[in-house]
Formats: sequence, structure tokens, C-alpha cells
Amino acid sequence: MSTVQPDPGRSEEGGSSADAANVHREQSRVQSEEGRESNAAQAQRDASLTHWEEAASGWLARQAVMRELSAPVSHWMIDAVEPQPGQRVLELAAGLGETGFLAAELVAPVGGVITSDQSEAMLGGARARAAELGLSNVEFQTLNAEWIDLPVASVDAALCRWGYMLMVDPQAALIETRRVLRPGGRLALAVWDSIEGNPWALLPAIELLERKLTESPAPGAPGPFALGSEERLLDLLQAAGFSDVCVQTLDLRHRNASFDEFFQSTLDLSRTFHDAVLARPETEIADIHASLATRLEPYTAPDGSLSIPMRTFVAVATA
Ligand SMILES: C[S@@+](CC[C@H](N)C(=O)[O-])C[C@H]1O[C@@H](n2cnc3c(N)ncnc32)[C@H](O)[C@@H]1O
Repeated sequence: MSTVQPDPGRSEEGGSSADAANVHREQSRVQSEEGRESNAAQAQRDASLTHWEEAASGWLARQAVMRELSAPVSHWMIDAVEPQPGQRVLELAAGLGETGFLAAELVAPVGGVITSDQSEAMLGGARARAAELGLSNVEFQTLNAEWIDLPVASVDAALCRWGYMLMVDPQAALIETRRVLRPGGRLALAVWDSIEGNPWALLPAIELLERKLTESPAPGAPGPFALGSEERLLDLLQAAGFSDVCVQTLDLRHRNASFDEFFQSTLDLSRTFHDAVLARPETEIADIHASLATRLEPYTAPDGSLSIPMRTFVAVATA
């Protein structure tokens, strides 16, 4: 009786062992590449959380200014989702919660708002503001919008103002948003247009870049201007399964009584600017201050007040 031994040069599938080794090598390469990518993504999420926990005190200091300048965006978003009495509305990346609180008044008394953010410190500020407004139909949830800890089809409307572009995987977050919306429920969002349309951020960024105090963001990296393309926003919303997508631009003004006020407000609202500038010696901080004031002269009136253009996309889409 003879037994057939496998040819040492052949794998069981019929390829050579050299082929099999190559396949294994390729699989390990892909796996370790994926592992590296997911480690890098997790590191970005951790960094974002730390960033926003630290940024919360500055945002609290500028709460009233932000409320005023961003009011047209919040109102656009609320009009777009038309919250009705009795409905449940989810706000993602809510920060201090201002947009969702407008909805809370409209859905009361039976309906309510879930104000959510990854940052406990931001949500602490939101809780205080809800108490100040006397809102009793708001609950607070700490969550990363890429994994929304809510059941399928459990909310009637979703809001996210200036949040998705900061997320490591905005596509995942939009898919999650659609999952938790009931069929026909609407999402309204805002993301900044490109940095070129936003001199309030462009000029401080140029100041830091020219001094080599920061680096240009890597293409596609999360950041305030990462979704500053109407085409990309439409693609992401459609790929997440949303229909009836409508994107518009809104022009706002960043108004300050003086350049000093603008400078302080930028330190409060941009943690990146804050960390880069305040790490420098006092003489250099004074140089940065003077140089940025010169850059902003085109937006400075004879009385020293500033009115700087801001441009954001707003979008509404149906789940
Ligand atoms: C620019 S602030 C905007 C806050 C608020 N929506 C507003 O318009 O005033 C961005 C907020 O997004 C939150 N955020 C960023 N990435 C997030 C994520 N993946 N999941 C949940 N929140 C996130 C931050 O913690 C921060 O509070």
C-alpha cells in the first residue's frame, strides 16, 4: 500500500509553499497596517478628548459671545428639523448645548433632548446652562458620536453644530446618526467651509505657521476645516444613507470691540492657538500680538473694532 505524501513544494490548495508564505506575509502586512491605523485613530481620539476637556474652560469664558455669533446657525438648524411637541431630539458634540436647548423648548413638556458630547467638562457647562434656562426635559450623555449608545430608530431629529469635522471617522458618525434616527427623521448639521473662507482662523494659523509654532494639518486629518468642501459633505451624507440632502452656506461675522478682545477670544476658543502662543516667551507673545493685529487691519474699523468674515456650511438630510 502506498500513501501519497504532500509535495513539500506545494501547499494543500495546490499553490507552492512559497506562494503560501507570500500570502501569509501579505496578510500579516495588511493586519499590522490595519493595527497601526487603528492605533493611530485611537491616539487621535484620545488627543481630541484631552484637547476638548482642556478647551472647556475657555469655551465657558466665551459662552455669551459664541451664543450671539452662532445664533443664525442654530436657528437655521432648528428650522430645518422642525422639532414638534413630544419629540425626542439628540444633539451630538453638543459642547455647551446651546442648539439643543432651543429644541428643548419646542418639544416640551412631553418631549425631550439628549445633549451629548465626548467631553465631561463641556457637558458640565451644558448642565449649568440648562439649569440657568430652567430646562427640565434635557438629559446628558457622555458619548463619542462614532458609537452612539442609543437604540435603532430611537430619536426623531438629530443636531450637530461644528462637530463632525473634528471626528476621526465622520463617515462612521454619520452612519451611527442615521441608525438612531427614526425613518424620515432629520439631521441638521453645521461644518466650517474651507479655512480660506474663514480669515478669523486663517490669519492666526498663518501667524503660527510662519513662526513654525504649528504644522499644517495632514490632508484628511480631523480639524475645524476638514469638511470644508460641499462635495465631500454631500458624499458623506449620501454614503451614510441619507436622502433629500440640502447643503447651504451661511456668512457670519466675528465681531470684537478691539483687537485685544479678538486676541483673548482666540486664546479662549482655540486650544491650539492657546498652547502654541502661551508656550513662548513674553517678548515673542507681544510680537505675535502686534503682527496679527497688522494682518487683521483689513477687518479693523477706525474705532478699533473688528468685524471678520466667517463662513459655514449648514446641511439638512433625511434618514
Ligand atoms: C467646536 S466644539 C462645538 C460645540 C457645540 N456644538 C457648538 O457649536 O458650540 C466641538 C465639540 O465637539 C466635541 N467632539 C469632538 N469630537 C467628538 C466625538 N467624536 N464625539 C463626540 N463629541 C465630539 C468636542 O468635545 C467639543 O465639545
